[in-house]
Amino acid sequence: MNDTRGPIHIAELSSQLLTAFPDLGSAWQIDYREETGSTNADLRERLDSGAGVQNYSIILADHQTAGQGRLGRAWTAPTRAQLIFSIALTNVDLQRLGTLPLAAGVGVIDGLAQITAVPFRLKWPNDVILPNPQAGSGATGYKNYKKLCGILGEVTGFGQVPPVPAAIVGIGINHSLTEVEIPVSTGTSLTLEGVEVDRTTLAGAILTAVIRRLKQWETDTFSLADYRKVCATLGTHVKALLPGDSVITGTAEDVDYAGDLLIRDEQGTVHTVSAGDVEHLR
Ligand code: BTN
Repeated sequence: MNDTRGPIHIAELSSQLLTAFPDLGSAWQIDYREETGSTNADLRERLDSGAGVQNYSIILADHQTAGQGRLGRAWTAPTRAQLIFSIALTNVDLQRLGTLPLAAGVGVIDGLAQITAVPFRLKWPNDVILPNPQAGSGATGYKNYKKLCGILGEVTGFGQVPPVPAAIVGIGINHSLTEVEIPVSTGTSLTLEGVEVDRTTLAGAILTAVIRRLKQWETDTFSLADYRKVCATLGTHVKALLPGDSVITGTAEDVDYAGDLLIRDEQGTVHTVSAGDVEHLR
């Protein structure tokens, strides 16, 4: 695999996406940067400037110097060791925003399934993980899975007069990181899982699948049943660490129409969790 950390062939990728989605149109943009702070921040700046960003415009980068993760965390990787991109959605129904991250997560799972039979799944809301069947019932928390990909969704456009709400979906997939390059002991990469794919092929499969799911979301045809099929959290004993440091432990029963996780505790009370970190306990 000589091309492991080669550049993405952007003309090839662009033409693949325009063939899959002819309606993207001539004003649609796909930008590729060698280095940037954060592709989410770049897209936010562009959307907030009123520059007329087209729906599903994309910024990809080989390296981020200030990559942003969920809950204010940093997101880092060596140059070209990940697939890093953000997509703009300019037609958003704010009432249904809660399910947008779920649709994006299902899109990544769909795209990975085009490339490999490795059974990647989602940890609510949309961490792409590889469950570890060896962990057994005695294992706790993060020992039960390894994380391959993180997704950061955000809304913007409220600084404009009148407001022009838009959403950004930013995705980082660990492509060729080695064990020493992964910032947390609980991470993995495609290379570490034995999946050999160049980043252009990976980008084509993932972007096609993600845009397909985002279009379903946009037209309100995304089905939570599809999310339930690939979410490893459901039916699992979990610990949810909520903002403000409170903790809920119980069985993750379902997700609701708002994208929230429903956890039944030992007393039988069902808690609705809309934000926070969930650990799979067994
Ligand atoms: C997480 O914490 O799991 C979410 C990580 C999201 C990282 C991606 S990489 C592309 C985009 N740009 C960013 O700054 N963050 C997202």
